Amino acid sequence: MTEVLKLRDLANADFNPFVEERFFFGENEDPYPLLAELRAKHAAMPGDYREIMGLTPDVTFPRGVPHFMILSYDEVAKALQSPQIFSNQAYTFNLGASFGRSVSTMDAPEHSRFRRIFQKIFLPQHVKKWGDSIVDPVVNELMDGFIHTGKADLIGQFTLHYPFGVIYRQLDLPPAEGKLFHKLAVTQTLVSFDFEHGSEANANLGEYFPKLIAQRRAQRGDDLVSLVAQAEVDGEYLPEDILVSFFRQLINAAGDTTYRGTSVLLTKLLENPDQLEMLRADRALLPNAIEEALRFDGPVIEQSRWTAVDTEVAGVQMPAGSIVHLVAGAANRDPAKFIDPDRFDIRRPNANRHFAFAAGPHICIGQHLARVEMMRAMTAILDRLPNLRLDPDMPPPSLRGAMMRVPHNLHVRFDPR
Ligand code: HEM
Repeated sequence: MTEVLKLRDLANADFNPFVEERFFFGENEDPYPLLAELRAKHAAMPGDYREIMGLTPDVTFPRGVPHFMILSYDEVAKALQSPQIFSNQAYTFNLGASFGRSVSTMDAPEHSRFRRIFQKIFLPQHVKKWGDSIVDPVVNELMDGFIHTGKADLIGQFTLHYPFGVIYRQLDLPPAEGKLFHKLAVTQTLVSFDFEHGSEANANLGEYFPKLIAQRRAQRGDDLVSLVAQAEVDGEYLPEDILVSFFRQLINAAGDTTYRGTSVLLTKLLENPDQLEMLRADRALLPNAIEEALRFDGPVIEQSRWTAVDTEVAGVQMPAGSIVHLVAGAANRDPAKFIDPDRFDIRRPNANRHFAFAAGPHICIGQHLARVEMMRAMTAILDRLPNLRLDPDMPPPSLRGAMMRVPHNLHVRFDPR
């Protein structure tokens, strides 16, 4: 008989990473004026992005190492496309401590070898079929819980849960443990700030996944765990630590980012009712509206790199062994690339030229899935929540954070069904 696997909770079961993460990502209401001021003076400059934004430093980064920031669109683009200079080794300190040997911490040739396999699963042709079979059911089940009431907090009751629900079903994990998985998926990334809880979550997931991989190898299903566990390179299964790291990363990367992207899009549309109306009148605008939300206030503002050699960016010398913060949030609002960049405009012609998913060899594996999820979620919202508007009796939404952005609440009203 197959053993029923149990995921271990944190010793302090009351630990709430959804609140704790605010201290790590920051509560900054609007980091963009400062970024604009810095970018206007320097395409690149010395400095630790977290400190400049008033946050505590990342405790996993080695002390005494020089930090730099790259802020202009063109220089961020060049750095993302130059992995031989700007290595992903920077993530061995923080993401490496959370997930282990994940693709985010690797450079070529190791990176290309493993990424090729993982990427195949998330190609547009596969992702498209999940829209009907997984995304729509998850989205609609959540909405069924509140459409009769005429009001909701779209963060707490919807966006926080639906992308995690999707990856959870794709991995075919036990429904009863969904909440615990979600909690540990978020806790593990807090290592850079709360090493104790972060490592505990990471150990508990690390205990669970090898057993799950063994079960799915013995009894194959059509879920993602079975698919990846059976994949081979040069006639051999992928090393177990690589698989475990990938699953740890997946349950976080897939759940935590799309939630923020959808929340930003909804917030900006509700704050700009003329644009929401425009979208209602012409649904063909939806793909561009999604790109504009990702450009305007993308979930991942900063990406880290490590200089593999001495280099120079826009006249600034960066010695080998420096940490470089590629500030996508500054590049995505560079007036040299985007006209009137601080305006949210769902008709912007070049909205999709953003770095919300990065660029180059590490460009987000899940970008096609993220877009399908946001399309399906927004379509359901437009179809099923008529007369959607901000709730005049509740505080208006306020986007927060300097590392990852999201409002804590999004109180809305609509005509009940
Ligand atoms: C709006 C949603 C998303 C955003 C904004 C986003 C953003 C990013 C960014 C910026 C990177 C590059 C990090 C770097 O190298 O510095 C990345 C990588 C990655 N993302 Fe996403 N992501 C999203 C959704 C997803 C989803 C849905 C999945 C999984 C299905 C996913 C899985 C990954 C993985 C595995 C990598 C590592 C790729 C590599 O290093 O080769 N992401 N993502």
